[in-house]
Amino acid sequence: MKKLLVVSVSVLFLYTVVSCHSIKKEKPMIEKSVFGKLADGSQVEAYVLKNANGMSAKIINYGASIVTLTAPDKNGKYEDVVLGYDNIEGYVNGTTYFGGIVGRYGNRIAKGKMTIDGKEYQLAVNNAPNHLHGGVVGFNKKLWTVDKTEITKNGPAITMTVVSKDGEENYPGNVKLTVVYTLTNDNALSMVYTGSTDKTTVLNPTNHSYFNLTGDMNNTILDHELMINADKITPVDRGLITTGKLEDVAGTPMDFRTAKKIGKDIGADFEQLKYGGGYDHNWVTNNYDKKVRLIATVYEPKSGRVMETYSDEPGVQFYCGNFLNGTVAGKGGIKYAKRTGLCLEAQHYPDSPNKPEFPTTLLKPGETYHQTTIYKFTTKK
Ligand code: GLA
Repeated sequence: MKKLLVVSVSVLFLYTVVSCHSIKKEKPMIEKSVFGKLADGSQVEAYVLKNANGMSAKIINYGASIVTLTAPDKNGKYEDVVLGYDNIEGYVNGTTYFGGIVGRYGNRIAKGKMTIDGKEYQLAVNNAPNHLHGGVVGFNKKLWTVDKTEITKNGPAITMTVVSKDGEENYPGNVKLTVVYTLTNDNALSMVYTGSTDKTTVLNPTNHSYFNLTGDMNNTILDHELMINADKITPVDRGLITTGKLEDVAGTPMDFRTAKKIGKDIGADFEQLKYGGGYDHNWVTNNYDKKVRLIATVYEPKSGRVMETYSDEPGVQFYCGNFLNGTVAGKGGIKYAKRTGLCLEAQHYPDSPNKPEFPTTLLKPGETYHQTTIYKFTTKK
């Protein structure tokens, strides 16, 4: 009897120690520092958001870019899971869009041409022969204003706004876009966008983070297992412009409805993969009704890290870093090789301004643009 009591007390003690350890919480906080200076002398600031579990996100007001994002592996080890640059020069000179918010129009507009209310606009052809990610100076190349930082009940948050003037990059209307990043205490990075304009224009911003859940950027993402909740893609032509059609993924290498390794079919003899040099396509995410739902899940078996993507957008561009070629020096001097990172860019379909059959990206005066996209991190053994 006495022995039983001793055993139960020790079990209880052990249980208390273990559970206290696992629920040990840190105080959510935000640390501000100087990240660098732009050529015109303006200062770029970095904000490190830390949640109650010790997960952190470093975000700069240049491009509202996510510079680092740590996530725990299956043993609780936190490592940086995004690609980025060490300094501001990298972000200013870079052409990779690491971590930034691209806009006004995420992805391509054919030949940079669009017509709104009978007027034709010629946008920059910065990805010949097309317009890409907002042009020469897109939102990822602008200094955003930090409106506020706060510790909310969900976690630390930062609110940033960018203003794009009427005629900027040849788009009509003065546009204001605000993004609230919250690093929630359940290990999700949430991005809530709101936007407005004073003339009818198009708005289709997205975050362009490249993830590598191994936490070691010497690895490619080909062994990551990906699920995309989409029955169809918007196929593209040689110039990566959507054809206007929707194509079933069933029976093709584009089928990610059941999770599979990204590398499994990437080399298949399939026209769309040839055009993209790999995966670089928009998936038509199922159940679009402007509500947030799970659109994709990535799992990396070695680390056990899982990233779920939730969004209220109708599509997601899955791009797997086909254009990285080992010449771009990133954080810690690592030269990112081809397919070192994968992007899941929640968005409206590419070239929607020229495809009336697609959900519209038009924004009119008096309307409010909304988007919520969430990257949530868990682990699996
Ligand atoms: C998007 C595009 C790609 C490429 C990257 C940036 O994902 O679809 O083709 O331009 O951005 O390199």
